[in-house]
Amino acid sequence: MATKSHTPLIVGNWKMNPATLGKARKLFLDVRKEVGRKKMETQVAVAPPFPFLSELQRLSPSQRIGLSAQDVYFESIGAHTGEVSLPMLRSVGVSSVIVGHSERRAAGESDEEIYKDVQAIFKSSLTAIVCVGEQVRDQHGNYFSVVEAQLRSAVRDVPKTKLKQLVVAYEPVWAIGTGDHATPEDVQEMKLFIQKIIADVFDRSAIKKVRVLYGGSVKAKNAQELLTVGTVDGFLIGGASLKAKEFGKIVHTAEAYAKTSV
Ligand code: PGA
Repeated sequence: MATKSHTPLIVGNWKMNPATLGKARKLFLDVRKEVGRKKMETQVAVAPPFPFLSELQRLSPSQRIGLSAQDVYFESIGAHTGEVSLPMLRSVGVSSVIVGHSERRAAGESDEEIYKDVQAIFKSSLTAIVCVGEQVRDQHGNYFSVVEAQLRSAVRDVPKTKLKQLVVAYEPVWAIGTGDHATPEDVQEMKLFIQKIIADVFDRSAIKKVRVLYGGSVKAKNAQELLTVGTVDGFLIGGASLKAKEFGKIVHTAEAYAKTSV
């Protein structure tokens, strides 16, 4: 049996869904019900669109379901039309921020901006969920260098004392929203590779602090294998996070795994 040294983390990335505040409330309440009230080892969070954050904070006063943001701007205030800052996110209960999602990268976000976002997140003591992942899996294994370059660039100046607030999400772009998830064996290989880079950038003890998630067509039916064989510490979930029952099943799969592994 694989060993687990980290608190599992399951994050639902709602992307630009659902269409209205009313629907967001309903989805959140349904997710809350599916996750249940029992004390769990697994941490659960959802990342709704910005306009819904403050209302959802009200629906989860105990923060049992944490709030995550899908993006952030590194400056804290000023003339930056259309941007959202960390102090704003904190003030509506956000505790973690997804950075460098491939859909943001495709919209033009650069490694340098991602670096600045990560720096700003650490200064404000929130958790950064840094997404890395290749576009394609080529035969020559160039995807390793893609992931390595993205990761080194994003985390290079993270203070060693704050590594518990660093989460890396391996999200191969070809697996996102396609139904075609990476094999558990490939996920495990990439997780070990990411840990090797983390150990190289910081030191070996960093591996115990930094969680590695997988994202890309995670569903209730593949979650178990991705955890046990893939040995990741949790998931970043898109499509399946919009179905409360499906999301709840994944959370409970992670929790059952957390309880059985040591
Ligand atoms: P998916 O998305 O679960 O729909 O593949 C994952 C993500 O984009 O984070």
